[in-house]
Amino acid sequence: MSTHPRQFAGVTRLATRMKGLKPSAVREILKVAESPEVISFAGGLPAPELFPVEAFAEAFAQTFAKEGAAALQYGVTEGFGPLREWIAARLARQGIKATASEILITSGAQQGLDLVGKVLLDPADRVVVEEPTYLAAAQVFHGYQAELVGVPGDDQGMRVDELPAVLGPAAPALLYVVPEFQNPSGTSLDPQRRQRLVDWAATHQVPVLEDDPYGELRFEGVSRTPLAALTDEGVIRLGTFSKILAPGVRLGWVHARAELIKRLTVAKQFSDLHTSTLNQRAVSRLLETFDLEGHLAKLRRVYRERRDQMLQGLEAGMPAGTRWTRPEGGLFLWLELPPGVDDEAVFRAAVSRGVAPVPGSPFFHRVEHRFLRLNFSNQSRERIADGIQRLGEVVTEAASTASGR
Ligand SMILES: Cc1ncc(COP(=O)(O)O)c(C=O)c1O
Repeated sequence: MSTHPRQFAGVTRLATRMKGLKPSAVREILKVAESPEVISFAGGLPAPELFPVEAFAEAFAQTFAKEGAAALQYGVTEGFGPLREWIAARLARQGIKATASEILITSGAQQGLDLVGKVLLDPADRVVVEEPTYLAAAQVFHGYQAELVGVPGDDQGMRVDELPAVLGPAAPALLYVVPEFQNPSGTSLDPQRRQRLVDWAATHQVPVLEDDPYGELRFEGVSRTPLAALTDEGVIRLGTFSKILAPGVRLGWVHARAELIKRLTVAKQFSDLHTSTLNQRAVSRLLETFDLEGHLAKLRRVYRERRDQMLQGLEAGMPAGTRWTRPEGGLFLWLELPPGVDDEAVFRAAVSRGVAPVPGSPFFHRVEHRFLRLNFSNQSRERIADGIQRLGEVVTEAASTASGR
């Protein structure tokens, strides 16, 4: 009998592109944080009590009553026409020139990331990302065997001035950025840096992938111009209904030049043919009558209160040497631990006290263990107060142990 490991159903022999790909560290952490006794600041979940459930129920009922068969039929890959029109009009309000033919409906912005990776990246291509960056984007680029190049960020977002030093003379294949209320750091890209980034990309002919799931959730400060509004060329923009309506409908979009949309459409065809016809039609119907502005105002108000509660708790409970960002919108803030305190050790100690942050290290390309990501959208103010107090105790103990070493 052969002593070789059995090669059956691909269990021992995987495609090269799968080598070294691990399940998302954050998704694994979320499993720990799922228990109801744990106050979780770990996920990136919107507040479920604010989902417009009744408006969805009504929109789905109307869709079944008026266009049931069409909503259950296969649809075109590009997406449902009226929904593409609605998105183009919404982008125009943000100063972005867009027509429906420049919109591809995707199954969440996440699929947009995957399609852009599939269409633009060859193995060993270089992709510029922020340090830290959105983990599931980094995983997509790794999946296409790209080489990630990290550019450091600060309180004003990516350090665009560092690009030449980090990259050297050869242009990368793609630059990925989350300019508004970034995941994980909560920071927004400074207006001057935006212009500089777009100019740099034009000079070096590097496509910029602008991922903006959180821009509509600004609760203070002045709106910043999206990268796609600063240039007619060179920016591929991802959007999503996940954070403004509900993530479970899995509806997002890519906005790009029509030539690229055609390529992305081919890639989507062999990925999933099209995004759910039923969900597209129901959301399109919902948007005809739903008070989206009123709903966004409510989201902004509640998330702002929760952010303020978290900031207040951090102020009261964190030891000297701890710093954190003060995001003007979005779902996350980013905390820098005192010197010598390790993110994973804090995570373990915190979970045993019934509170779960996310260690910051998985969001970095380099080795970096000084940060935690804290989500403030998914817990009530009472639970935020309680959870941050517990976290403050954990960090204080860890800091005193570290300084006593
Ligand atoms: C920066 C960023 N991009 C994309 C996504 C994916 O969003 P979607 O639910 O639209 O797939 C997320 C989700 O949290 C995100 O934070």
